Amino acid sequence: MLAHLLAEQGVECVVLERQTREYVERRVRAGLLEHRTVGLLERHGLAERLRARGQVHRGVELRFAGRRLRIPYAELYGGRHMWVYAQQELVADLIRLWIARGGAIEFEAEVSGLSGLDGERPEIRYTRAGNAERLACDFVAGCDGWHGPSRSAVPAGALRLHDHRLPFAWVGVLAQVAPSTEEIIYAHHERGFAGHMLRSDTVSRFYLQTEPDDPIERWPDARIWDELQRRLAVSDGWKLREGPVLEKSVTDMRSNVVEPMQFGRLYLAGDAAHIVPPTGAKGLNLAVSDARVLAEALAARCKRGDSAPLEAYSATCLRRVWVVQAFSLWMTWLIHRLPPDTPELALRTQLQRAQLELLSHSRAAAAAFAESYVGFEEL
Ligand code: PHB
Repeated sequence: MLAHLLAEQGVECVVLERQTREYVERRVRAGLLEHRTVGLLERHGLAERLRARGQVHRGVELRFAGRRLRIPYAELYGGRHMWVYAQQELVADLIRLWIARGGAIEFEAEVSGLSGLDGERPEIRYTRAGNAERLACDFVAGCDGWHGPSRSAVPAGALRLHDHRLPFAWVGVLAQVAPSTEEIIYAHHERGFAGHMLRSDTVSRFYLQTEPDDPIERWPDARIWDELQRRLAVSDGWKLREGPVLEKSVTDMRSNVVEPMQFGRLYLAGDAAHIVPPTGAKGLNLAVSDARVLAEALAARCKRGDSAPLEAYSATCLRRVWVVQAFSLWMTWLIHRLPPDTPELALRTQLQRAQLELLSHSRAAAAAFAESYVGFEEL
């Protein structure tokens, strides 16, 4: 995304990808795009396939105490809707269009080190097809995830790391089955959270709360369906359709931020700078937002000699990062079963229930949820 935005402004760049093209185009991630994310893609001619294949969504369902509560977020937030479109599909679109536009990208490029980040001409060393390569740069954008090589190249102590582990994990399941719902469902249940998410008319995505480090071997398909049936149950005759499991894995949940999102001529974006818990599916949207800020800042510097936006890059991004982090954490704690060792467990469980009640009784509370869930236009 960053490469597209830079190239459009005449800033030359090279993308180094550690994995193969097939891997990144198939890796299953979330599939919910904010109105604002899609608007940006559209303005840059990157949303054609998304528009043809994605689905527009205007509401979300919360389930608790055997009841359903629909939050019509579009109606509550000026008509802004969201799109269901799998992240790997978007990645595939961006790669295809980048190559078609003559953009430089190297797959299976294993970065072994970055140097000179605090000088004028940083350098990236990497290997490709067994050959050692070097790339001299004016600027480096670290878009390489939380465990990528760019942040590790920053001297210890230069960045402040917030690394918060949550006492929850999700079993993520992709199944060959038509969805049993028209809108995404988040279910708060005494056996733990369950989510029914969407992909297409024939494939559905599900999540089940479990403990961190729980091996996937403990989740045979029969157990997955049994838990989904129980946790998603409502008393009005709704039925969950089952089908073959295509893929499943356990993901631990974290809330991480690095401050500032920059060191010398290295600018961190997306997961390299922050990890949000998956509740609310904000990770991709936040990464795209960073890319937008960074592209404008780099273009201002490279094309007009104006350094101010680049100097403000980290502060500009962190404003949104912390707001989104707060929302994702709040929603995580709202919707999960609290761990058994939680102090004052009974009281806290009642307070969770009360917050869900509030969402069903207060239009203002539902509207506040809608704004955060759909994503603030400006921050
Ligand atoms: C997903 O589509 O996988 C998804 C959707 C909403 C969430 C999390 C994940 O809150």
